[in-house]
Amino acid sequence: MRVRVHASIANFGPGFDVFGVGVGAPYDELTFRESNEWEVRVNGFSVPSDGRNVAVVSAKALASLVGEELALKLELRKGVPPAGGLGSSGASSLAGALAAARTLGVEDERLILRAAMEGERHAAGSAHADNVVPAYYGDFTLITSTAPLQVMRVPVDFDVVIVLPHLKIPTRKAREVLPGSVPLDTAVRAISLASSLVLALREGDLPAVGRLLDDPVALPYRKRLMPWYDRVREAALEAGAYGLSVSGSGPAVFALGEDPEDIGEAVAGAFAEMGVASDVYVTRAGVG
Ligand code: HSE
Repeated sequence: MRVRVHASIANFGPGFDVFGVGVGAPYDELTFRESNEWEVRVNGFSVPSDGRNVAVVSAKALASLVGEELALKLELRKGVPPAGGLGSSGASSLAGALAAARTLGVEDERLILRAAMEGERHAAGSAHADNVVPAYYGDFTLITSTAPLQVMRVPVDFDVVIVLPHLKIPTRKAREVLPGSVPLDTAVRAISLASSLVLALREGDLPAVGRLLDDPVALPYRKRLMPWYDRVREAALEAGAYGLSVSGSGPAVFALGEDPEDIGEAVAGAFAEMGVASDVYVTRAGVG
């Protein structure tokens, strides 16, 4: 049996740990079958091929949540680049949880997502849900609560361009630079942007969505890990983007605009001027 789990854009501007959307490319594929012992093979991007692999962690978590014994033979085609900000650990975590669920006949979405969040905890030190949830539903999703997990969904379908520089920022490291609390005016700005952005999405007003793609919560602290951010944003806006933001904890960035190919080329060009190669994905946001 096989499952495919898509990359996701977490945070989506102002929605730190809350917003996320599933995207068409890239994706992971996990082939699995029940076995006498755990076995993992990995093709594609390099990730651990032993019990540290988050697909194994979340598959075991699902088995433990339902009180079952389980061993699987897994073959992971790792298409989502690790430490890129595209929900790589979330995709593999969810794939592992789904593999265990299909094998054990578990259909409860909440259990599957809880198990997938354990994979995230293993990878990043925090069980954030804003990659595994949009990867599961494919829609634009809002995490209303993580314990218990409560989710709201907004079906979307629009073009997005993602540019992934050949740099790595592990989510764990990107979370370590964050403060324990933020000033009141930052919180007010985040609420204002986030609520307006959801309304703009519901109205299908993509230029407004783009203009609201600011992140006052995490980005000011994470910019030290992404000193190139202002330059690539400027390049995107010059190429006609409605807005650009960091995907998840970066370094991938994403932008909306009428001509995603042109925007992708401009952003990749800005990275290249700084001596950084990058990959451009022009894809769909919303794969539900
Ligand atoms: N919300 C998480 C973060 C997403 O920004 O740390 C990580 O992909």
